[in-house]
Amino acid sequence: MSDIYHLDNVTKTYMVGKVPVDALAGLTLTIRKGEFAALQGPSGSGKSTLLNVVGLIEKPTTGSVQFRGQDVTQANEGRLTDLRQECIGFIFQNFNLIPVLSALENVEYTLYLEQRYTQAEVRERAKVAIKSVGLERFAAHRPAELSGGQRQRVAIARALVKDPQIIIADEPTANLDSKTASQILDLMKHLNSELHTTILVATHDQAIADMAGRIIKIKDGRIDEG
Ligand SMILES: Nc1ncnc2c1ncn2[C@@H]1O[C@H](COP(=O)(O)OP(=O)(O)OP(=O)(O)O)[C@@H](O)[C@H]1O
Ligand SMILES: [Mg+2]
Repeated sequence: MSDIYHLDNVTKTYMVGKVPVDALAGLTLTIRKGEFAALQGPSGSGKSTLLNVVGLIEKPTTGSVQFRGQDVTQANEGRLTDLRQECIGFIFQNFNLIPVLSALENVEYTLYLEQRYTQAEVRERAKVAIKSVGLERFAAHRPAELSGGQRQRVAIARALVKDPQIIIADEPTANLDSKTASQILDLMKHLNSELHTTILVATHDQAIADMAGRIIKIKDGRIDEG
C-alpha cells in the first residue's frame, strides 16, 4: 500500500474574537491507500477540523499536507476545488443534501460540477449509484420525503458516484438508529473491500471503530499515542 496523505506537523488556529483556539496543535499523520481508518477522540479534540484539512476544505495554519505525493499546502483555490471534485467524497452527519433536488438529482449534481461526463453518462452513473445503495424506488423523492437513513444513503451514493480515491465521513451514523447505522456500515465496508476506496471516518460509534482496520486517536489537536 502506498500513501495517499501525509500531514506533517499541521496546526490549525481559529481566532474567536481575539482569542486563538488551537483546533490542531502539531499533528503528523500518514494515511495509506485502501486503508479504513476510524478517527476517535473527545468532543472538541479536532476531528472535524482534521477531516476538513484532509478534505482540502481548510488550509492548515502551519505545517504541510501532501496528497498523492504532491504538496498541496500552498495550492490555490481552483486547484483544490478540482482535487476535491475529482478525488474526494464527503459524507456529513447532517447529510448536506440539496432540498429542492430529488435523490437522483442530488447524486447527478455532483457529477455535473465535475464537468467530465455527458448528460446521458451523468444520469446513467447516478442511477447505478442510487441502485447500489438500495434506493431505486426512492430516486424521485426529495430529501424531505426520505427517512434519515435513506438520506444518508443518498449522501453515500453522492460520494461514491465520483469513484473517489478517498471517502471522508464525519459521524455518518450519528443521526441513525442502530439497524440503519449497520446498513450504512455495511455499505462503507463494501466500498473499502471491493473498490479499495480509502475511508477516513470520525466517529463515536464503537461499531465503526470495531470494523476499521486502524484506529487513530486524537486529543487536544494531536495524535494521542496513548
Ligand atoms: N470555525 C471555527 N471557529 C472557531 N473555533 C472552531 C471552529 N471550528 C472548530 N473550532 C474549535 O476547534 C476545536 C476543535 O473542533 P472540532 O470541531 O474539530 O472538534 P471535534 O473533535 O470534531 O468535536 P465533536 O466530537 O464535538 O464533533 C474546538 O475547540 C472548537 O471549538
Ligand atoms: Mg466534529
